[in-house]
Amino acid sequence: MTSTPEVDTVVGACVGCAAPGVARRRFLAAGGGVAVAGTLAGCSSGETGGGAATTGADGSTRVPLADVPVGGSLYLDEAEVVVAQPVEGEVVAYDATCPHQGCMVSSTGADDTLVCPCHGSAFAAADGAVVQGPATTGLTVLSARVDGTEIVISG
Ligand code: FES
Repeated sequence: MTSTPEVDTVVGACVGCAAPGVARRRFLAAGGGVAVAGTLAGCSSGETGGGAATTGADGSTRVPLADVPVGGSLYLDEAEVVVAQPVEGEVVAYDATCPHQGCMVSSTGADDTLVCPCHGSAFAAADGAVVQGPATTGLTVLSARVDGTEIVISG
């Protein structure tokens, strides 16, 4: 039996400011088959909506490939992960914890940058590198691969 995860739509809001500096990786600790909520923080077309991820028995986070727009990204709030698809079929995922002070990088800015709403740091969606400070280091890259119609993310 599954429960319906609560899905919040957040664009430009600071999801992680309630506990900055706390890098939680709940998706790795969750049990198999547990649904986690996802949030489409924004995409290159500016659309918003929801996306659902699940946690596999191995602790990986799985999200439908179709939920991540080509040239855009998806912020999974429960997993605190951003997954991007810079080129069709090529995916990359990041720990959404901002290396500056720990807020969640939860929105997509101009030129497909990932933006931290706390102090404005921006990161390239394609590789997580710093585009604009105050952060001085890039996002932590996670393992991500396409498996059929899903993206599998592990830490
Ligand atoms: Fe992200 Fe400061 S916590 S810019």
